[in-house]
Amino acid sequence: MERTLIILKPDAVQRGLMGRILTRFEAKGLKMVAARFERLGEDRLSQHYKDHEGKPFYAGLVRFMGESPVLVMVLEGVEAIATCRKMMGATFGRDAESGTIRGDFGISRSYNLVHGSDSPEAAEREIGLFFDANEIVEWQPAGHAWVYDAEDLG
Ligand code: RTP
Ligand code: MG
Repeated sequence: MERTLIILKPDAVQRGLMGRILTRFEAKGLKMVAARFERLGEDRLSQHYKDHEGKPFYAGLVRFMGESPVLVMVLEGVEAIATCRKMMGATFGRDAESGTIRGDFGISRSYNLVHGSDSPEAAEREIGLFFDANEIVEWQPAGHAWVYDAEDLG
């Protein structure tokens, strides 16, 4: 099992798309193990986006991400990092395939609805940045055995 950090960004919140996006992750078989609805401050955002510092879009990105509350969460599942990235689609809505979250709900080149960790190292760093270990909730969904087969579950 793998964990990934997902953020439903300000445009998803303001457009009332949180439920529809979350439904897709739930239906896929990803389990929520932590979540917090909050408005992110500049400190947290600059740490989160430190790899993008100095890029032309950096200032706009940090401003956008702090403009409204966001839903930050940790999702768990087999190959959760790659699975969520596939579900999100290409970075910008108008490039993203239909059937993906960004492809179905977005068209902008800066508002793109959702963030997902892009590697195991990024996931570990990002989860640690947003959640303390005691905020991660271990639980077993009742339908788990019908989502993952015995091989997945080891
Ligand atoms: P994310 O980190 O949010 O999951 O998105 P991503 O991996 O698909 O894209 P990344 O390259 O990590 O860029 C992070 C976020 O910066 C904004 N961005 N704007 N205007 C631009 O050229 C540009 N490039 C990136 C997007 O909000 C992107 O999600
Ligand atoms: Mg990224």
